Amino acid sequence: MQVRNASFFDCREVAKVHKECLAKSFLATLGEKFLTLLYKTLVKYKKGILLIAEDDGKIIGFVSATVATVDFYRFFLKKKFIEASFLLLPKAINLNILRKIFETLRYSKKNKINILLPKAELLSIAVKEDYQRKGVAQQLFKALAKEFYKNGINEFKIVVGDSLLNAKKFYRKMGCIKVGEFELHRGEISEIYIFKIKQYE
Ligand SMILES: CC(C)(COP(=O)(O)OP(=O)(O)OC[C@H]1O[C@@H](n2cnc3c(N)ncnc32)[C@H](O)[C@@H]1OP(=O)(O)O)[C@@H](O)C(=O)NCCC(=O)NCCS
Repeated sequence: MQVRNASFFDCREVAKVHKECLAKSFLATLGEKFLTLLYKTLVKYKKGILLIAEDDGKIIGFVSATVATVDFYRFFLKKKFIEASFLLLPKAINLNILRKIFETLRYSKKNKINILLPKAELLSIAVKEDYQRKGVAQQLFKALAKEFYKNGINEFKIVVGDSLLNAKKFYRKMGCIKVGEFELHRGEISEIYIFKIKQYE
């Protein structure tokens, strides 16, 4: 198993892994094509990180992150507005989805937690079911921390849906500290964690 930076060509497979492993997440509901576009843009974005775990040439997991999420979404909207609108148009008719898109964009600008949160953020991490509990996510997480550190980042945040019990156990095991919770989407509690990278130095 090896961890490496994703290329443009890996993004479709990453989107598939995202959809499969995070089926109930809001981004997954926007569809595989939208996710592919999002990940391709992340690979292009200078302050974005997309790492993949590969086994025998097959993508078995990934972690995505940005140095500043709000700047990434701005970049995405500026560069991909037309393509993204085209992909989202059939879904935007669904008012619930439209509301969640605005909630996501609003969250990345302003959150309701009363402490200063790091701008850097781990956006998603996922490992295919057959490969879970073998330390794959741990390796991805450590590789991400190193990548952030190289970019002068000492801490990053993670927002986790309250129902993702395994993910919460994983983050705690990695040494992340829960600093609060808030309603990212109406009626859905999310927990917010911080990880201080110096723990690995
Ligand atoms: C969360 C997730 C990424 C963990 O991936 P993984 O490769 O299985 O995790 P690791 O094997 O590296 O686990 C490292 C440690 O985290 C903890 N952990 C991970 N999964 C766990 C689980 N299902 N139950 C309890 N503890 C768990 C354990 O302490 C584990 O160490 P151990 O196996 O030595 O006890 C994986 O379960 C997943 O893809 N879940 C679905 C997607 C998701 O919820 N992503 C988070 C989005 S924010």
